[in-house]
Amino acid sequence: MAERDPGLSKAAPDLAAQFRRDVLEGLSRKNKVIPARWFYDRRGSELFEAITALPEYYPTRTEVGIFQSSMSQVAAQVGPGRAVVEFGAGSMAKTPLLLDAIAPSAYVPVDISGEFLRDGCAALEARYPDLPVIPVEADFTHPFALPAEAGHGARLGFFPGSTIGNMAPAPAVDLLRAMRQTLGDDAMLLIGMDLIKDRERLIAAYDDAAGVTADFNLNLAERINRELGGTIPLDALAHRAMWNERLARIEMHLEAVRDIIFEVCGHSFEMTAGETIHTENSHKYSRESADLLLLAGGWEPVAHHVDDDRLFMVVLAGAILQGRTA
Ligand code: AVJ
Repeated sequence: MAERDPGLSKAAPDLAAQFRRDVLEGLSRKNKVIPARWFYDRRGSELFEAITALPEYYPTRTEVGIFQSSMSQVAAQVGPGRAVVEFGAGSMAKTPLLLDAIAPSAYVPVDISGEFLRDGCAALEARYPDLPVIPVEADFTHPFALPAEAGHGARLGFFPGSTIGNMAPAPAVDLLRAMRQTLGDDAMLLIGMDLIKDRERLIAAYDDAAGVTADFNLNLAERINRELGGTIPLDALAHRAMWNERLARIEMHLEAVRDIIFEVCGHSFEMTAGETIHTENSHKYSRESADLLLLAGGWEPVAHHVDDDRLFMVVLAGAILQGRTA
């Protein structure tokens, strides 16, 4: 039998314990669920990079196209000299499009995993030798203190990729409020949000012909087997992507194709044929619902940038000041 992959347990013991808790708790529920954040181990991050290049997966290339055609306008509204704070910096692939346009005072990538941060920072430091790059390892779903090196000038939050879409509206509002608190009164926010569109196009983006998204989804079960000593029979799970119209979201599930019993960390779990583990939500927005979400989170939309096919939207918003009448 293969050695158990230590995965997080060596590099980040807190995260490893949280992974274990989330998996055991989520698999114990009547409707099994595992938070989407656990997709992104090394293999999962590689598979996500591969997804962004798929013909069916429009969000990444559409957002990059919007940045390319709108960034000079964004720069004019944002002005120079801001510290750019990128939330969930990941591969930092889109960051140069922003940094090249706005003459920032510092770049502060924030991620819960220090390992991912370090890789991206080296490349940016080489590209911008005069720009202070100040990585912060933090859980940005709660307000946190920016390091003094980020300066006391105005900030620009950067949250591309429709990462916000992983959250239901209530936690998404909490996140926007936390960002508002972290970034301060004069802050602006540049955020990517995926738009509601026809069902066929949405489903194809999450159920591609090459099966890369299926591999991405199944890697979560493989990761549980690797890192938590799981015995999930992978051949009994199938990738499912469906459009939940009522809640305006794509849902990804792993569906049992026959009755199965397996163990994770010594705990036993059963699934009957047709039962699923809900692994991801990807919420989609109209311009109106996007604006309301931002307003509820303490951000006033300033400008909307949408591609010609109306697939994706980049919103520039400004921090709402809490007045006495508010
Ligand atoms: C990284 C959360 C924006 O929801 O489109 C892609 C993740 N999942 N294909 C998305 C994802 C399946 C992606 N986000």
